[in-house]
Amino acid sequence: MDIIVAVTSDWAIGKDGSLLYSIPDDMRFFREKTKGAAVVMGRATLESFPGGRPLKDRRNIVLTKNASYKKDGVEIVHSTEEAIELIRGERERPVFIIGGDSIYRQFLPYCSLAYITKMDITLPADSFFPNLDSEPGWALEEEGPVLEHENIKYRFTTYKNIDVRSVNK
Ligand SMILES: NC(=O)c1ccc[n+]([C@@H]2O[C@H](COP(=O)([O-])OP(=O)(O)OC[C@H]3O[C@@H](n4cnc5c(N)ncnc54)[C@H](OP(=O)(O)O)[C@@H]3O)[C@@H](O)[C@H]2O)c1
Repeated sequence: MDIIVAVTSDWAIGKDGSLLYSIPDDMRFFREKTKGAAVVMGRATLESFPGGRPLKDRRNIVLTKNASYKKDGVEIVHSTEEAIELIRGERERPVFIIGGDSIYRQFLPYCSLAYITKMDITLPADSFFPNLDSEPGWALEEEGPVLEHENIKYRFTTYKNIDVRSVNK
């Protein structure tokens, strides 16, 4: 499974339950990459989507501790172990961890690649992604050209986990 995330210069990803900044080209990249995939997210990330609705054309797997939480079009799990059980059984689709902060940290060791859109901007934030430049086992694999949107420079990068943990027992 892989991770997909957009970070600012200090690896920030969100504030008050919302994204910090959104670049149309990056949104397109996210849609194309995850279309048809299984996406794993925390309850707060699901609720940050328009209308709190799941993503279309994807298998939506959502973590919550709330035993009575229900949402149409969503598979609810209550622990990382339960999520891993579903991921292990997923034979047809690729699996993407799509956030937020808490979910990225819990699933990072199991991910092979991290697709990271780096935006050259600093904004007030309360959610962060681990800085992969100082995370043991992770190495920068690919770095795209510098692009620009509304005077903000950004680039698509890929990091590789050289010590990936298998979800299989
Ligand atoms: N920049 C990006 O690419 C990106 C992508 C995604 C999200 N974000 C941002 O990230 C922020 C949200 O991150 P977050 O950490 O606050 O929320 P989150 O990870 O989306 O969701 C947290 C919730 O997930 C549930 N959860 C987490 N671990 C669990 C476990 N082991 N077992 C069962 N349930 C578990 C809990 O739900 P309950 O409270 O219901 O128990 C927890 O409160 C927002 O600002 C969002 O916009 C940014």
